[in-house]
Order: sequence, then structure tokens, then C-alpha cells
Amino acid sequence: MKIAVGSDHAGFSLKDGVIKHIEGKGYEVLDMGTYTTDSCHYPDIAEKVAKAVSKGECDLGILVCGTGIGMSLAANKVRGIRAAVCSDTFSARYTRLHNDANILCFGERVVGPGLALELVDAFLDTDFEGGRHQIRVDLIKKIEDENFK
Ligand code: RB5
Repeated sequence: MKIAVGSDHAGFSLKDGVIKHIEGKGYEVLDMGTYTTDSCHYPDIAEKVAKAVSKGECDLGILVCGTGIGMSLAANKVRGIRAAVCSDTFSARYTRLHNDANILCFGERVVGPGLALELVDAFLDTDFEGGRHQIRVDLIKKIEDENFK
């Protein structure tokens, strides 16, 4: 499996650790920036990661900014993306199980490096449950189809 990872300057310090951790779990990683601590705009990075996942170039994505919120708002504008901000492992696990989330977002100003890796583990180690949850995910897609060009 291939994971797209991105951050802005406010999530930059966590990104390298996240990438090393994911590679250590045996995943291939696509690092989509940012590559310095210079200030940048989170929607630019979110769009790159979201498009890589939406086009099927990567299976899942991880986005880090200050809060995780801006990244999720931007990523969710790309068709087919279900990006979830999580700062607890229960949510990170259930957003895979029930929502089939395909991008995990979190904030470097919210979670520490230890919890960040636990969020990543909870997200990557969990598969979508399907069944009644598939009906609900299909309803999300219907909203998307009706409201996005
Ligand atoms: C950058 O200062 C900050 O606004 C950004 O990283 C993010 O938290 C936005 O949601």
C-alpha cells in the first residue's frame, strides 16, 4: 500500500517522524511536501495529497497542519475524499471502520509526537467494515454527486 503524506509549515516537525514510522510498517510513502519550515498555504498541500488519493495513485493519505482542520476542509473539496480530523485513537479507528475515511488529518499544535503515531497506527491498521456503513458512505457520495460539478 502507498500512503500520501503532506504538511504545511505548522505540521512540518511531525511529518518526518510520521513518514519514518509508516515506512517502518512496510508502506510505501509519497511525501508531497512541504519540504522546509518556510510559511506556506495548507490548501496547496491538501489538494496534492487529496488528488493522489482520489486518482488512486495512493491508497490513503495523512495530512498535518497546526490543527488538522484546515487540511481536512481543503481535502474534502476533492471528489471522493473523506478526510477526518482526529485527535484520539478511538476516532482514528472508527473513521476507517464506519466512514471509510481515506485521509487522516491531525494538528501538530494539538497532539504530541507519541499520540500522532498512535493515530497513524489506529488509522492504517483498520479496514472499513462495510455492511450498513456502506449505505451511509454511498449517501455521502450522493450528496457529492448532487452538489459538486
Ligand atoms: C497555520 O498557521 C495554521 O493556520 C494551519 O496550519 C492550520 O492549523 C489551519 O487549519
